[in-house]
Amino acid sequence: MNPATPTPSATDSQLLKRIDQSLETFLDRRSLPRSLDDAIRYALFGGGKRIRPVLCLRACEAVGGQVDSALPAAGAIELVHTFSLVHDDLPAMDDDDLRRGRPTLHKQTNEAMAILAGDAMTALAFELIESESSDKAIVGPLCAQLASATREMIAGQVYDTMGGQPDDLQPIDRLRMTHELKTGALLSASVQMGAIAGMATDGQVASLKVYASTIGLMFQAVDDLLDVTQTADKMGKATQKDAEQGKLTYPGLLGVEGTREEIEKLRQQALKALSDFDSRADPLREMAERLAHRQR
Ligand code: IPE
Ligand code: IPE
Ligand code: MG
Ligand code: MG
Ligand code: MG
Repeated sequence: MNPATPTPSATDSQLLKRIDQSLETFLDRRSLPRSLDDAIRYALFGGGKRIRPVLCLRACEAVGGQVDSALPAAGAIELVHTFSLVHDDLPAMDDDDLRRGRPTLHKQTNEAMAILAGDAMTALAFELIESESSDKAIVGPLCAQLASATREMIAGQVYDTMGGQPDDLQPIDRLRMTHELKTGALLSASVQMGAIAGMATDGQVASLKVYASTIGLMFQAVDDLLDVTQTADKMGKATQKDAEQGKLTYPGLLGVEGTREEIEKLRQQALKALSDFDSRADPLREMAERLAHRQR
């Protein structure tokens, strides 16, 4: 799409370092009760794969932007994602004791702290975008995108834990709707926020939206599959829980093989959505491959 010669991209591990550094610097500048600060850092620097912030930076790069301009957005998404997991693990929700190979935050501290740390991370996400974005013109669009994705994620969590999807939907459409909301929304926002920071054209945004919603759905399909096929040891979180908790999942509806076929279809769709992009989108292409085949 952009005729300029692509510049060599940073490696994933360089990006991960930059994401962690910018989050640490931002937190260092905030004044929080020590216990809350400790809880947030425990959850935030606990070995997450950082898929969303990396997607955000890679989307920025794919549209020809400077990776650093998307760093505040990338950190903000990871803050919201981490809040969503801390609350997801609470006894009132999935009731999990293990996350990223360590005790969940409410086990490590207590429930009140896990609730409050999650609340605080949501607010911090928006503060991060506002305080660290050098181009103030993108603050509004970034915050709007993150706010709607957060609202959608919460709506998806409601459907996942309490049901209530529209009655006229078939089970497969209920599943898609729930997954698109609870997981797809934040993954989509990651890509779209990267595109905003990279000053993407309307055409680029339209293609990236398709890529993003496809890998969003694919990501949760893989998560559901791993819950059935993988060990807790490997995942760093409990497995075999979705069926036990009566969750509506891909393997539950389509079986393991059907889920694999669905993942493969989504992987191909994601790659097709990037067909107009040059080699700067290669890291996004590799992400689609990796996310389809991930083992944890
Ligand atoms: C887990 O997300 C929760 C889902 C949305 C399925 P990740 O698999 O990205 O979790 P971390 O951040 O790497 O632990
Ligand atoms: C979590 O989905 C989605 C959000 C946190 C928004 P899951 O409940 O399947 O995630 P895991 O398996 O606990 O990581
Ligand atoms: Mg859940
Ligand atoms: Mg869970
Ligand atoms: Mg799961």
